[in-house]
Amino acid sequence: MAKVKSSYICQKCGAEHSQWHGQCKECGAWNTLVEEIVDKKEKTVFSDTVKVKKTLLNIIEVETGDEPRIITPSQELNRVLGGGIVLGSVCLIGGEPGIGKSTLLLQLALKMAKKVLYVSGEESASQIKMRADRLTDVQNPNCYLFTETSLEKILQAAKKMLPDFIIIDSIQTLHSQLLDSSPGSVSQIRECSNEIISFAKSFQIPVFLVGHITKDGQIAGPKVMEHMVDVVLNFDGDRNHIFRLLRAGKNRFGSTVEIGIFEMVNHGLREVKNPSQLLITKKLEDLSGNAIVVSQEGNRPLLLEVQALVSSAVYGTPQRSSTGYDAKRLNMLLAVMEKRAGFLLGAKDVFLNITGGIKTDDTALDLAVIAAILSSNEDMAISQKYCFCGEVGLSGEIRPVSHIDQRISEAEKMGYEKIFVSGLNTLSPSKFGIEVAAINKIDQLADYLFN
Ligand code: TYD
Ligand code: MG
Repeated sequence: MAKVKSSYICQKCGAEHSQWHGQCKECGAWNTLVEEIVDKKEKTVFSDTVKVKKTLLNIIEVETGDEPRIITPSQELNRVLGGGIVLGSVCLIGGEPGIGKSTLLLQLALKMAKKVLYVSGEESASQIKMRADRLTDVQNPNCYLFTETSLEKILQAAKKMLPDFIIIDSIQTLHSQLLDSSPGSVSQIRECSNEIISFAKSFQIPVFLVGHITKDGQIAGPKVMEHMVDVVLNFDGDRNHIFRLLRAGKNRFGSTVEIGIFEMVNHGLREVKNPSQLLITKKLEDLSGNAIVVSQEGNRPLLLEVQALVSSAVYGTPQRSSTGYDAKRLNMLLAVMEKRAGFLLGAKDVFLNITGGIKTDDTALDLAVIAAILSSNEDMAISQKYCFCGEVGLSGEIRPVSHIDQRISEAEKMGYEKIFVSGLNTLSPSKFGIEVAAINKIDQLADYLFN
C-alpha cells in the first residue's frame, strides 16, 4: 500500500510544515498545527482549462471600462457591493450562526429574475423549500437547488447548467476528492476556494460563498481565503435585536465604508431604508440619561440614541459597562470628565447603551456619551429636540468630525431644533434651518444643557 502523505498545517495561516512544531514558523501562532492528509492525486479540471495568452502591457494602453455588474433587487446589498455583483467575482459572507446568511442569499436567489444555482451542504432541499415558503413574496422559477458537498460534482453541475450566479452554503462543508482530509480543514477550504475562484473567473459567473466564523469572530479557515476572494462581507448585529448590518471588510470593486441595514422579520430580511427613524424611540416625556447623536456609517448619516445610567456604586470598585460602544473609550471619557471638567464620577457606576443593538466606533458619539452621562448624573433630561455630534479629546476639547454638513442636514431633516458640534468645524451655520451650537470644551456643555 502506498504511503499516505501527510503534512502539518497551521489552522491560522494555512502554512504547511513537514513536522509538528509547537509554534507555526510562518505566523508564530502557538498550538495551531494539525496533521492533515494532503495526498493530492492530480491537478484538477478547472484550474488549467482556460489558457489566456498574456503579454506585457503598458499601463497607459490598458483600456478600462466599468465592470459589468448584475444589479440586485436589494438596494442595501448593491450599496455594500459597490453597485451590484461584478461578473466573475467571488464574495465571501461571514457571520455568526443564525444571523441570517442563508436567508439573505436565498432571498437574493428568489428575488432575481436570473438563473441561480443554490448549493447547500448544510440543509436538505425540503428545509430550503420550507424557508423559501416563509419568504412569501418571492418567486423565481429559475432557481435550482443542489444539496451536495463534493466540489467536483458541484463544479460539474455548474459547468453544465451555466447559471447567472452561484450560491454556496457553506465553504466549510465542501470537500474535494483530491484531498483526503476532512471537510472544513484548512487544506480542504484552501483547495475548494481555489477551484471555485478559478471556475468563477473562467466562466465569468459570480459566486457567493458562506463562511462560518470562529468564536473570536474571524472567518474559519485560512486567512489566505480572505486574500483570494474579491469581496469579504460580514453580516453582524445582535441576534436578540432585529437589526442586521452588512459590512464589507474587503471589496475590490467598491468602497468598504458602506453598510447595509436589514431587519429580520417573520418573512425574511427586510431592507431598512430610513434607519434613523427606527432607531430613535419616540418618548412621551423627556427622560434623563438619553442623548441623540448623528453618527455616520459610510456615506449615510444615521441617528442613534445613547442611553446612560449613573448611580452610586454599591461595591468598592465602581462598575463600568457599555453595550455597542467601546468600553475603553467610555473609561477614557469618564477620566476626561473628571480631570478636565471636575465632574466627580469616580465613585459612581456607569452603564452605557446604544439602542437598537447597533455597534459603532464612530468617534462623533463622544459628545453624546458625555451629555447622556451628565444628564443621568444630574437627573435632568436633555430636550428631545437636541442632538450632538463631536469627538472629545484628552484635554476635554471638542474636536470636529468628518461629513459635518451631511450630519447636520440629517438632523434638520429628522426635525431636531438644535445640534451641538465642535467650534472648530468650518461651516456657515446660517445655511442650515437648525440651530448649530458650537462648543469648544466639555465644561461648557453642562452650562448649555441645564442652564
Ligand atoms: P439563517 O439564515 O439560517 O442563519 P445563518 O445561515 O446565518 O446561520 O437565519 C435563521 C434565523 O433567522 C433563525 O433564527 C430564524 C430567523 N428567521 C426569521 O426570523 N424570519 C425568517 O423569515 C427566516 C427565514 C428566519
Ligand atoms: Mg445557514
